Amino acid sequence: MEKKMLKTGYFILLLSCFALQLDANPGLKVRITQKGLDYGWKVGLENIKQEIQNETFQSWSDRENFGLVKFYYTVSGLRMNTVEFPDASVSLIPGTGIKLAIEHASATFHANWSIKTWLVRNHGGATVSLSGVFITVIFQVSRDNKGRLSMLFHNCWLSIHDVKVKLSGGASWVFNLFAGYLKKPIQAYLDKNLCPKIKHKIQRMDAELRTLKVLSQIDAFAQIDYSLINSPAISKTYINLDLKGTVYPAGNRTDPPFVPDPFTLPDKNNSMLYLGVSEYFFKSASLAYYNAGAFNITITKEFSTYFMPTEVTPNSTIPEVLQLVQNYTMSHPLMLTLQSTAAPMISLQTGSLTTEITGYLEMFSVLPNSSLQFIFAGNLTVNTSANMTISKQKLFISLLLKRFHFSLTRSGVDFSEISLLENFLSRVLWNGAIPAINDKLRKGFPLPNQAQTKFIQPVLEFNQGYLLISTDFHYTL
Ligand SMILES: *[C@@H]1O[C@H](CO)[C@@H](O)[C@H](O)[C@H]1NC(C)=O
Ligand SMILES: *[C@@H]1O[C@H](CO)[C@@H](O)[C@H](O)[C@H]1NC(C)=O
Ligand SMILES: *[C@@H]1O[C@H](CO)[C@@H](O)[C@H](O)[C@H]1NC(C)=O
Ligand SMILES: *[C@@H]1O[C@H](CO)[C@@H](O)[C@H](O)[C@H]1NC(C)=O
Ligand SMILES: *[C@@H]1O[C@H](CO)[C@@H](O)[C@H](O)[C@H]1NC(C)=O
Ligand SMILES: *[C@@H]1O[C@H](CO)[C@@H](O)[C@H](O)[C@H]1NC(C)=O
Ligand SMILES: *[C@@H]1O[C@H](CO)[C@@H](O)[C@H](O)[C@H]1NC(C)=O
Ligand SMILES: *[C@@H]1O[C@H](CO)[C@@H](O)[C@H](O)[C@H]1NC(C)=O
Ligand SMILES: *[C@@H]1O[C@H](CO)[C@@H](O)[C@H](O)[C@H]1NC(C)=O
Ligand SMILES: *[C@@H]1O[C@H](CO)[C@@H](O)[C@H](O)[C@H]1NC(C)=O
Ligand SMILES: *[C@@H]1O[C@H](CO)[C@@H](O)[C@H](O)[C@H]1NC(C)=O
Repeated sequence: MEKKMLKTGYFILLLSCFALQLDANPGLKVRITQKGLDYGWKVGLENIKQEIQNETFQSWSDRENFGLVKFYYTVSGLRMNTVEFPDASVSLIPGTGIKLAIEHASATFHANWSIKTWLVRNHGGATVSLSGVFITVIFQVSRDNKGRLSMLFHNCWLSIHDVKVKLSGGASWVFNLFAGYLKKPIQAYLDKNLCPKIKHKIQRMDAELRTLKVLSQIDAFAQIDYSLINSPAISKTYINLDLKGTVYPAGNRTDPPFVPDPFTLPDKNNSMLYLGVSEYFFKSASLAYYNAGAFNITITKEFSTYFMPTEVTPNSTIPEVLQLVQNYTMSHPLMLTLQSTAAPMISLQTGSLTTEITGYLEMFSVLPNSSLQFIFAGNLTVNTSANMTISKQKLFISLLLKRFHFSLTRSGVDFSEISLLENFLSRVLWNGAIPAINDKLRKGFPLPNQAQTKFIQPVLEFNQGYLLISTDFHYTL
């Protein structure tokens, strides 16, 4: 009785998990368009050509009656010579899967033959030409229980309109008559073996898909969950995949205390691939990095490096500031500590991604005997925009200082005017804190893709609530 209740309870738990999943919005969306599929199928066909070329077919023997004469024959060493796929297409079956079609294909094979009758024995070579080959394969695309993409073979049809066999070697008309008898078994062999081979290939690809990890390690701090949360949605012109898209601190898969807002990819199909990266993704990244302490930083740099102009801050420091700090610290190295007090806030608007980092900042100078001399401390709020680039299938983010607000809690230096402090602080942020944070983001965020895929000229577009990446791709076998 108790056991049964336990089971029922477990079942309800499972159901509720399932219901939760149905309700959840994705943090990441992937769209593969017809253009992407066309490209993929083109690459796939090249692969298939190579594979048939490499294939060694089994030899087979049988017995036939030729008029009153019984003979035994063997066909061996069947190898493909040429193959043409003039009409090949891939199309989507809305709601179900993918249809691959090859029409009017032709191929020639070489084989060795031998025959044996009570009267003669002979052997030689043969050329087998197939033409008017039509193959249609349908497979379903779905999600397995671990959230990975899965391909399920559904159906395969094959028809071969013409098989021609030409013998060489046993050069008599008898043998060429015999050639006619070889057509049937060759056709039967192909009918029996081609579709099962295709089925096997799809099963192998499915097995490969299921070895893909849904968790992708970013660096020592964080990992991304790329599992599918829904079954792939197949329409007439594209496949949409909804991925979880949560960034977790390394070794802690607790979901963040917020959920993704729904968003829709624009109805575009001129790139092969679209990736929609939600604000949720960036927020979970911010929380993960915060929990991992990535925004708590301590750095020590030579005095002069804080006062160096940079590309983005060509303005020279107000001379009084340099003097003031120099007089106080005797140009000893400066140490900065920033302790973030909350996960940086992220906002994705049309045209930009901005962050707000809050924390407690302290500055010291490092004396020659390694003891620290306090300079000042206070609460800091920094607003940045994010510069994003894609390289090697990773999203790289670097922060650019926009504004900051500082409230001084303690100071060793007498900054007679607030503008002097702000001028010094802007140096500290530009040349100290922001580069240190960017250094922690330097590894980049791996985007969902397969190992052999390379993005071609990806374009980034900031939309309300999500980042859209449009790209073509190149696949190397
Ligand atoms: C893109 O979608 C439009 C309709 O939305 C369709 O007419 C067009 O053929 C599609 N283009 C490709 C390359 O699939
Ligand atoms: C076919 O064989 C060649 C040479 O042995 C090899 O380089 C290639 O990878 C093979 N292709 C496939 C698809 O197995
Ligand atoms: C086919 O026959 C030729 C000539 O007898 C022989 O050299 C060759 O090795 C055979 N090929 C195969 C694959 O059995
Ligand atoms: C795991 O992450 C959650 C939320 O991000 C946090 O509340 C929790 O303290 C973390 N647990 C550990 C063991 O770090
Ligand atoms: C980062 O600094 C804050 C504020 O001092 C502290 O509460 C937090 O524990 C630190 N985080 C880590 C991971 O060290
Ligand atoms: C740089 O100087 C110019 C002119 O003095 C000023 O308008 C601008 O705001 C300054 N920029 C920064 C980042 O301080
Ligand atoms: C720095 O010290 C020099 C020499 O001791 C003095 O002349 C100057 O006024 C000081 N500057 C500031 C800004 O305190
Ligand atoms: C380090 O040097 C400073 C000034 O030179 C001195 O005030 C301080 O006591 C020294 N600290 C230690 C631990 O020796
Ligand atoms: C600094 O922030 C803390 C909370 O993080 C707050 O208690 C304190 O009043 C703030 N101090 C100033 C000067 O703003
Ligand atoms: C920083 O950004 C936040 C949110 O984007 C905004 O509410 C706040 O006003 C900004 N702060 C400053 C100092 O610009
Ligand atoms: C943005 O990043 C790219 C690539 O790292 C860099 O070339 C560019 O200068 C950056 N833009 C700004 C404004 O920093």
